[in-house]
Amino acid sequence: MNPLERLASALPKAELHLHLEGTLEPEMTFHLARKHGAKLRFPNATALRQAYQFKNLQSFLDLYYEGAGVLRDQEDFHVLTAAYLERAVKDGVWHVEPFFDPQTHTARGIQIKEVVEGIVGALKEGEKKHGITWRLIPCFLRHLDEADARKTFDGLLPFREHFTAVGLDSSEQGNPPSKFERVFARVREAGLHVVAHAGEEGPAAYIRDALEKLKAVRIDHGVRCVEDPEMVKELARKQIPLTTCPLSNVRLGVYAGLKEHPLKKLLDAGVSVTANSDDPPYFGGYLLENWTACLRELNLEAKHLIQLAKNSFSGSFLPEKEKGKWIEKINRVGSSVG
Ligand code: ADE
Ligand code: ZN
Repeated sequence: MNPLERLASALPKAELHLHLEGTLEPEMTFHLARKHGAKLRFPNATALRQAYQFKNLQSFLDLYYEGAGVLRDQEDFHVLTAAYLERAVKDGVWHVEPFFDPQTHTARGIQIKEVVEGIVGALKEGEKKHGITWRLIPCFLRHLDEADARKTFDGLLPFREHFTAVGLDSSEQGNPPSKFERVFARVREAGLHVVAHAGEEGPAAYIRDALEKLKAVRIDHGVRCVEDPEMVKELARKQIPLTTCPLSNVRLGVYAGLKEHPLKKLLDAGVSVTANSDDPPYFGGYLLENWTACLRELNLEAKHLIQLAKNSFSGSFLPEKEKGKWIEKINRVGSSVG
């Protein structure tokens, strides 16, 4: 490990963009398929992993929703979440704000209670075992209609205490945030924050839509803001966090390679950008692998790594006092490692 890789590893980090269904490793897919007597169209885990080659977001989502079909009972959601936390700890992750997609499961007849209690049980256990804190974020699937999101939200309300925000994900093009304006008004009335995937494959205008129509306080991905220099300035001035996912963007063809990724440019422009893993087994890396790939390909310096770590906590939904403690700790690590 070179000194910058040592620093990347040692810095405390928060993961702000991670889909729990997207942490399903092929070996676990096969294990759960065997448990439920489900048939998969791949002969083994290696063949499934080899199929992780995507043209665009939709070609990934098709496989991701298919894979999620093996998640069927509370124990499955528990095991999935616990395995992710075990892995995250190794990367120096101390706080997580994972997403999950309720509609992917309720559409298959699975009770939302099973999903939420499986995930929350594992998050609580992880907090006890590893000291990892958490905030949980259900997302609406934007390829479905607003009425479905509204029905889903009604189903989530009995579990309201477990959630901090509601997000918006799935197929972006042709599904602007404004499609969900009324349901997100209800989300805010329930005292929950709004976050939204925007400007991943969709245009920069969708970022503005998410901010203005949904009142999103954090933008997931948001990389296409670079096409609108006024928007970059506004994001920097308002310190709206962007949860970018560099390896995901390359694997889904948003950029031909990491060298084209705007992470460093956005950091240098003062935008509160973070680097996250999105759906790690599908895109070839957990959090630290995203960081070290950027380190290599974008020639990041120590100041960039320290800023990424600080942004990950300042952009989180932790209380201000907690954020302050982590930022002090990052300053201490930043001056002692390298
Ligand atoms: N669901 C899981 N990963 C996603 C991504 N990168 N974009 C939109 N929806 C998703
Ligand atoms: Zn995502």
